[in-house]
Amino acid sequence: MTKRALVSGATGQDGSFLMELLLKKGYDVYGLVRRLSTPNLNNITDIADQVHLLDGDLMDQSSLDAAVELAKPDEVYNLAAQSFVGTSFVQPVLTGEITGLGVVLLLEAVRHHAPEARFYQASSSEMFGKVDREPQDETTPMHPRSPYGVAKVYAYWACINYREAYRMFISNGILFNHEAPLRRGMEFVTRKVAVGVARIAAGKATTISLGNLDAKRDWGYAGDYVDLMYRILQHPEPDDFVGATGEAHSVREFVEEAFRVAGIPAWEKHVTVDEKNIRPSEVYNLRGDASKARRLLGWQSQVRFKELVKLMVEAELARVGLGKSKA
Ligand code: NAP
Ligand code: GDD
Repeated sequence: MTKRALVSGATGQDGSFLMELLLKKGYDVYGLVRRLSTPNLNNITDIADQVHLLDGDLMDQSSLDAAVELAKPDEVYNLAAQSFVGTSFVQPVLTGEITGLGVVLLLEAVRHHAPEARFYQASSSEMFGKVDREPQDETTPMHPRSPYGVAKVYAYWACINYREAYRMFISNGILFNHEAPLRRGMEFVTRKVAVGVARIAAGKATTISLGNLDAKRDWGYAGDYVDLMYRILQHPEPDDFVGATGEAHSVREFVEEAFRVAGIPAWEKHVTVDEKNIRPSEVYNLRGDASKARRLLGWQSQVRFKELVKLMVEAELARVGLGKSKA
């Protein structure tokens, strides 16, 4: 029988990659999309006619009930969130409502209308926050440092509570940062740098305004991470898994490599550090240990740091008409 999957956050970076993967695997795919005055289906234009797009918002119970009833999913992937840490400091309540409480609304819809469905929650390494050990794995204590991180911790524990209370198949993927050319939101640092470098190469800008260049992240490629989401729900038991590359690099290193790929010398001349990009409380250093996912799911991140930077910068150079990189 054809399997059915419901994906929230269908228009986002991960939602688009995941729906492509599920289509390739022969799933009947339902994507939850919220109404916007100007639709933003850019990430899914190639597959929009192969999936069923359903109206729904993580803050509206009746729309979630209706979507779950209609999709009758075997698997639910909850990727919807206010996902930008920076904005979560400006809109802490909205972030709490969507990224935290919204997950409980979707859990309730599944509990009532598809209690046998397997449920994936997009948990985050941002939950570890102020870390006391390195690398971080499934046993690392959580100390979130942003309203976004706090909301994700709430959602993470809500998922575990529903698993224990109602015996539902609910798993958390605790994923470290993952990016992709063109589909990553413009405000995230990797995309911001890739876009900025291409604009400088094209003579359309002279500088990029950034914040903390010393922050370190474990950056992987989104295509690899949606494969992990899928594997997590195929595991015989519900469980929680870290997804990471195991390597950390600073924002400074990302910037240096991006300018190198574009063939622009003396990157320091083109970068300013501005207070507006500094967060009230920062996560300085994240590096994950995905050995549990490797052992139990056979998963391993494939794309390495330099390849990721190259992919992102080359895509932006092509977008401004500069074709191949000079690297
Ligand atoms: P993204 O590109 O920002 O996508 C977020 C999606 O959520 C978008 O489709 C957005 O819709 C949707 N959304 C926002 N508010 C909603 C609401 N009230 N109701 C319904 N949908 C709503 O994020 P992503 O990078 O793909 O990440 C996917 C998930 O993984 C998120 O939950 C994120 O927090 C989590 N995560 C991401 C990473 C990472 O590095 N990418 C790492 C760990 C965890 P619109 O298009 O309408 O805005
Ligand atoms: N966005 C941004 N803009 N970040 C900057 C800038 C800038 O101008 N300058 C420095 N940074 C630093 C941030 O302070 C942070 O330490 C790091 O770059 C990464 O920032 P983001 O790209 O915004 O990602 P994030 O790590 O805060 O959050 C992402 O990863 C989480 C997983 O750990 C998002 O994808 C979250 O949704 C995800 O949960």
